[in-house]
Formats: sequence, structure tokens, C-alpha cells
Amino acid sequence: MLDKQSPIPMYVQIEDYLKNQILQGDFVIGEAIPSERELTDTFDVSRMTVRQSITNLVNEGLLYREKGRGTYVATPKIEQPLSGLTSFTEDMLSRGMKPSNKLISFEKMIPEIDIMHELQLAKDEEVFVVKRIRYADDKPMAIERSYLPVKLVPNLELNDIEGSLYSFIEKDKRLIISHASQRMEAVLVKKEDAEFLQIFMPSAVLLIERISYLTNDVPIEIVRSTYRADRYKFISEIRR
Ligand code: GLP
Repeated sequence: MLDKQSPIPMYVQIEDYLKNQILQGDFVIGEAIPSERELTDTFDVSRMTVRQSITNLVNEGLLYREKGRGTYVATPKIEQPLSGLTSFTEDMLSRGMKPSNKLISFEKMIPEIDIMHELQLAKDEEVFVVKRIRYADDKPMAIERSYLPVKLVPNLELNDIEGSLYSFIEKDKRLIISHASQRMEAVLVKKEDAEFLQIFMPSAVLLIERISYLTNDVPIEIVRSTYRADRYKFISEIRR
């Protein structure tokens, strides 16, 4: 199975072998892969080598470890296109998953200066700040902190944000969200967010800031989203 004369390191060869098995469905999601000891015997390599291959596959999100129990095949990541201006609710429903939210906080305040500029607000204009954990099939996927100008959604109440914020803006307020700009970066998760997302520290997460505008170019919302990097893969089509 492995080529010991190859310049490709053994741990990479084992990693590729296991990866192929996972991708071609030799294991079902949640199934345990053979133990480190078994793999060590099968491949006739050191435990260190096997461990390195597994660690790489865990970091890629194909496997997950459970302390003292074993290593299991992870649920494939969600492939999220970067092209459409869709809501979390729409994204999950289109995949046949059940979206839900947990409200962490809901406040009205004068925003920090960067938010004030991005929302094109005057100095004393207030925003609603909504912080929610977003779930798909009851599993935490992201944390979103949304800032909405109070003047555009003056009577926003708790029950308006229980479901989809976009649906509230479009159906209840009859405003048309037309375009947005997004920025994305990888960061290490903050302690508080790690607990909400049920991930270990330190873990990488994807931080996306989206500024959404109405048809007249008026900013309606800034969202800072922290997505689980082990659950998401962002994809886009590019042309030349
Ligand atoms: C996505 C976007 C957010 C937006 C949210 C609205 O998650 N990244 O910027 O606020 O959708 O989702 P919903 O309408 O389900 O509340």
C-alpha cells in the first residue's frame, strides 16, 4: 500500500490513503477509523507517523477525535457559495437542514466609530445590536452580531428576530436588500465564542463582515459572523 522508497513522506501517504477511503465512503459519518495501534501494524510505521497523518486529517475537518475513545469520520463541511446574497435561514433550508437561533443579547446603543461610519450614521444615531448563535439541525454553526440602524427598523422587537432577520426586513418592513460587500479572514476563536460554538481552544474560525445595502445604497445592516471552520468551506467560481 505504501511506497517506502518514495520521496513522499510516509505520513503523507497514509494521510492520502485514509482520505481516499473517507471520500469514497468506505466509512460512514460518525464511524471510528482503525486505532493508532492497528494503523501502526497495518502500515508497519511508527506511532508518531500515524499520529501525524491523523492530526492532519483532523485539522482538515475530515476526522474528529474523542478523548480516550477514538477517531471518527466527521460530517462533511457545508459548501457555502460566496456569490449569492442569501440569509442563513435560506441557506440551511435549501440544504434540507433545520435552521434555528439562540438569542444571546439584544441592545440599543450608540455604536463604535467604525460601525457608525460603515452604516453612514450621524454621531448620535443609535443601532440595534443583535447577537445570535445560529444552528443547523441543532448544531452550532456560527455566531452573528448584527448592527441595524434604529431609524430604519424603529420598532424592532424580540419576537421579530426569533426567525430570519432578512425575512423581517423584507417581508415585515418591506425594505429591499439589494447588495452587500463582504470581508473574510481567519482568526483564532475567542474563549466566549468557543463555548457558544462548542469548539476547543485554540481553534481557527472564519470571521466574515457583511455590509448589506438597500436599493438606494443605504446600509441596512452590518453583520460580524464567526463561522466554525470545521463546518464550513466557502466556494466561488472565477473566470479569466
Ligand atoms: C447570513 C449572513 C448575515 C445575515 C444573515 C441573515 O448568515 N452572513 O450577514 O445577517 O444571513 O440570516 P437570517 O435571515 O436567517 O436571520
